[in-house]
Amino acid sequence: MSFKGSQAYDNDDFFENYMARRKREESPNERIETPVFLEKLGDVTGKHILDLGCGDARFGYELLQKGCTHFQGVDGSKNMVEAANKVLEGTNGSVAHFPLKRWDFEKHTYDVVMSRLVFHYIEDLQTIFDQVYKTLADQGQLIFSVQHPVLTSSIESAAKSSKKSNWIVDDYFNTGQRVEPWIEEQVIKYHRTTEDYFAMLKRSGFSIEDISECSPKPENFSSEEEYERRMRIPLFLIFSCRK
Ligand SMILES: C[S@@+](CC[C@H](N)C(=O)[O-])C[C@H]1O[C@@H](n2cnc3c(N)ncnc32)[C@H](O)[C@@H]1O
Repeated sequence: MSFKGSQAYDNDDFFENYMARRKREESPNERIETPVFLEKLGDVTGKHILDLGCGDARFGYELLQKGCTHFQGVDGSKNMVEAANKVLEGTNGSVAHFPLKRWDFEKHTYDVVMSRLVFHYIEDLQTIFDQVYKTLADQGQLIFSVQHPVLTSSIESAAKSSKKSNWIVDDYFNTGQRVEPWIEEQVIKYHRTTEDYFAMLKRSGFSIEDISECSPKPENFSSEEEYERRMRIPLFLIFSCRK
């Protein structure tokens, strides 16, 4: 059986395994993606932020500590929403249980819409970008990360269980659905080229201000060996866009 969207995260074994990986000190999300994401967000003081696919909302909690006025998370997984409710208890943050395609994107509501490692699960991403454009205030920002297109192109390397020191890029321009073996399950993702993301964002009306491929920084690693390993394969792609 293959899992679509949030479904995998509502399989309890998958969820526990994923959370344990995500919270690892050496997790590439923490060592590579988070520092770049924070840099792109800049000063969040006074901002109203919407996080699409917020997971357990630990990042939202961090943003509230940094002075964001209100954090709204949305996630399609019941397990994630339960975890997020605990994390956000007593804060100016809240979380809603919706698949993104059913979320009510109210007009001119947020200063920042963000999303971390979620959009490669979405089949009709153009509609989501259109909705995000609508829900942003004028000059509002969309900042999101996806799995690097080099990774999503082919599942051949993903299927190997050993630590990867190289990655097979294949079918790069044959975009569309991939069924990837991940944490002992089959997960549906959508491969897009960098150019595809760029074109869709422009079609929705965004100006693309910056992209980052998240090159690892030695100062963010406690192990030299891990840093050297992470210099080999790009994992993340981050877009910063403005309405
Ligand atoms: C890899 S996790 C990332 C979680 C969080 N953004 C983070 O970086 O820690 C992907 C998240 O996207 C959510 N998700 C995937 N597809 C979704 C959809 N169609 N609608 C809402 N949430 C979705 C999943 O439930 C999961 O919490």
